[in-house]
Amino acid sequence: MEHSVNIDTNLSRKEIYPLLISQAKELVKDEPDLIANMANIAALIKESLGFHWVGFYRVEGEELVLGPFQGPVACTRIKVPNGVCGTCVQRQEAILVPDVDQFEGHIACSSLSRSELVIPLIIDNKVQFILDIDSSELDDFSTLDLDNLTIILKFLSEK
Ligand code: SME
Repeated sequence: MEHSVNIDTNLSRKEIYPLLISQAKELVKDEPDLIANMANIAALIKESLGFHWVGFYRVEGEELVLGPFQGPVACTRIKVPNGVCGTCVQRQEAILVPDVDQFEGHIACSSLSRSELVIPLIIDNKVQFILDIDSSELDDFSTLDLDNLTIILKFLSEK
């Protein structure tokens, strides 16, 4: 089956999300491999919304290990509770950072990152992996992003 991103990037983010959700659902529905699905979801989000970096980290013991991503090369391992990502795992909750310079301990994988959103996927009371998105714009994330991206993450957890 042929897959391609078919979203008009001139639409507003609010208009893009319903399209993104239906394409994400379609992309993963027949594929059981989590890594393959993470790779395509990262590409879909990056292409549709144009963020600086979109990717996943898997929780392995006390560390986060880099998973599929789109964007510049990134830190391979992050110890919990370091950085925004490690803090997210420790707190077991999403973290929205309007200005990364104001987040103590933020790990700058890229000097272009200005704001960040990290969402955990929790199964059986344990964070299994996180979705991390960096934007080169200050204050680029809101609950609109959090709510819609959380829906997309759930598609992955159902696998
Ligand atoms: N900024 C993150 C590190 C991961 S990169 O943004 C891809 C953090 O502070 O944990």
